[in-house]
Amino acid sequence: MAPRKLAAGNWKMNGTLASLAQIDQLLADAVPGCDVLICPPATLIHAVAAKGIATGGQDCHANASGAHTGDIAAAQLKDAGASHVILGHSERRTDHAETDAQIAAKSVAAHEAGLIAVICVGETETQRDSGATLDVISAQLAGSVPDCATAANTVIAYEPVWAIGTGRTPTDAQIAEVHALMRERLSERFADGADFSLLYGGSVKPGNAAEIFAIAHVNGALVGGASLKAADFAPIVAALS
Ligand code: G3P
Repeated sequence: MAPRKLAAGNWKMNGTLASLAQIDQLLADAVPGCDVLICPPATLIHAVAAKGIATGGQDCHANASGAHTGDIAAAQLKDAGASHVILGHSERRTDHAETDAQIAAKSVAAHEAGLIAVICVGETETQRDSGATLDVISAQLAGSVPDCATAANTVIAYEPVWAIGTGRTPTDAQIAEVHALMRERLSERFADGADFSLLYGGSVKPGNAAEIFAIAHVNGALVGGASLKAADFAPIVAALS
């Protein structure tokens, strides 16, 4: 199978019940020729899923249940209607000091619950400036993606930390270089490595989406700010379709 094309919106800590109108608008505007996923805050997962659109969490705990106040188990996301969960976003890696090993353990929990894990990797600006990008991405893939990953249960998102919410994007050549590396590393390790969907994330907008989607091994996008409004997200979905 070829990698599936996926336009994913990460609403982060944004959105209330009033935001559901954006889903209605998106469903009315977009005629997707690709998979479309919305990852709202946990409070909205059930309501977004009820709209009939693929829905994801933004994190899950590695344990199946227990005394972990404030956390959510993968099976609870699934129960609320989610099909996916974002794991290892750089904001989780930074704000909650999540390690590659923890992200791999959460990915295993997600797979056991029947969720598709969207595992994020990406270098900081300092790492890029020092020429460490490819080593950082290789190490994050090796550490964060569990052995049980397959193209059916795992999506990889390349999100350069310095491009998130900044309006800055890498050059096409820089994106191409990292995506080719990710494809190579996954193919070395997994029999179906050629089939994993590889997303780019970081300041994707209606104006740059088509150019980014034309880059080899870019199978879609993980979109933050521009996924909050249907008027911005629908053209991105259309560019991928
Ligand atoms: O997960 C998506 C995100 O980190 C990118 O955010 O706002 O730059 O599209 P944004």
